[in-house]
Amino acid sequence: MSVLVTGGAGFIGSHTTVELIESGYDVVIADDLSNSKEEVLNRIEKITGKRPVFYKADICDKKALSDIFEKEKIDSAIHFAGFKAVGESVEKPLEYYRNNLLSTMNLLECMREHKVFDLVFSSSSTVYGTPETVPVTEDTPRGQTTNPYGQTKAVIERMMEDVSGADDRWHIMLLRYFNPVGAHASGLIGEDPKGIPNNLMPYITQVAVGKMDHLNVFGDDYDTPDGTGIRDYIHVVDLARGHVCALDNIRKKQGLNIYNLGTGIGYSVLDMVKAFEKSTGVKIPYVITKRRQGDIAKTYADPSKAKKELSFETKYTLEDMCHDAYYWQQKNPDGYGS
Ligand code: UFG
Repeated sequence: MSVLVTGGAGFIGSHTTVELIESGYDVVIADDLSNSKEEVLNRIEKITGKRPVFYKADICDKKALSDIFEKEKIDSAIHFAGFKAVGESVEKPLEYYRNNLLSTMNLLECMREHKVFDLVFSSSSTVYGTPETVPVTEDTPRGQTTNPYGQTKAVIERMMEDVSGADDRWHIMLLRYFNPVGAHASGLIGEDPKGIPNNLMPYITQVAVGKMDHLNVFGDDYDTPDGTGIRDYIHVVDLARGHVCALDNIRKKQGLNIYNLGTGIGYSVLDMVKAFEKSTGVKIPYVITKRRQGDIAKTYADPSKAKKELSFETKYTLEDMCHDAYYWQQKNPDGYGS
């Protein structure tokens, strides 16, 4: 079975490619390398012994995407490609809407034209907005997203619901990720943010290797036990395994189905700092600063639906997440290089 992985050179896409290859799938990657490096393909080959087919293609260009469907025999798709920086999306909303929506519309059209109807979409827990209660189940209605990036995920979800509602040939799974962290245990692939990291774990690992001198903790006055924000961190290899489970089960489910991918456990920012220090032995100096605009106090998943329907359960611990993220950063202080 051959899977088209859009954005397959990115952080989650590359880890998912590894898990797919190791589960016997053939992978065709389409990635424009706007936020990733071609070197990742060598690394995937080193881990799996197999090099995925690669197209450097911007899937906002429908012709380029169509050509891939013409040349390759595609059975299903996992759609990761998209702009994902929350802060940048506030500055450049139109660029985010154009890129994330157009690429998705092109993909859906090309799939329909080539009679490929099995699709897994990379969505986000951000579509819940500020949840009234935690843990969050998939029945929780989509909330008020706090930024254009999140809004593109919510709009794409709606679009896919409409598309599958109108044509019962589609099998679509929307995977709502909580907070992916960590890296492949080999240290060969991991997260390679451009410039100063926006997210907590890559920031911590950059402090740990001396690239940043301290962590800024965004607010300690939230309504949480230690006052810092609570999230559900999931090891990226678990998240990648979740995609394989989704694809393995996609034909067993009718129409469109939604699954949370998280561990079900919430940790605060200070819990993360302590866990990182314990697991790596490296001290992380931090300073409490003001809240980051748009942040919510607390969210974590109810992961029971994915367990029941996809037999998906996370297996990596918080210690694994910290250890593997640090190992990747130590081995690749400048990511994949320039
Ligand atoms: N944080 C800090 N300092 C930092 C970075 C983050 O204190 O330098 C805090 C945040 O305030 C938050 C927690 O660490 O409490 C996690 O922040 P991240 O930026 O790592 O993650 P978010 O939960 O804000 O966002 C992530 C993804 C989004 C996605 C969202 C879904 O980055 O793409 O989860 O809930 F939309």
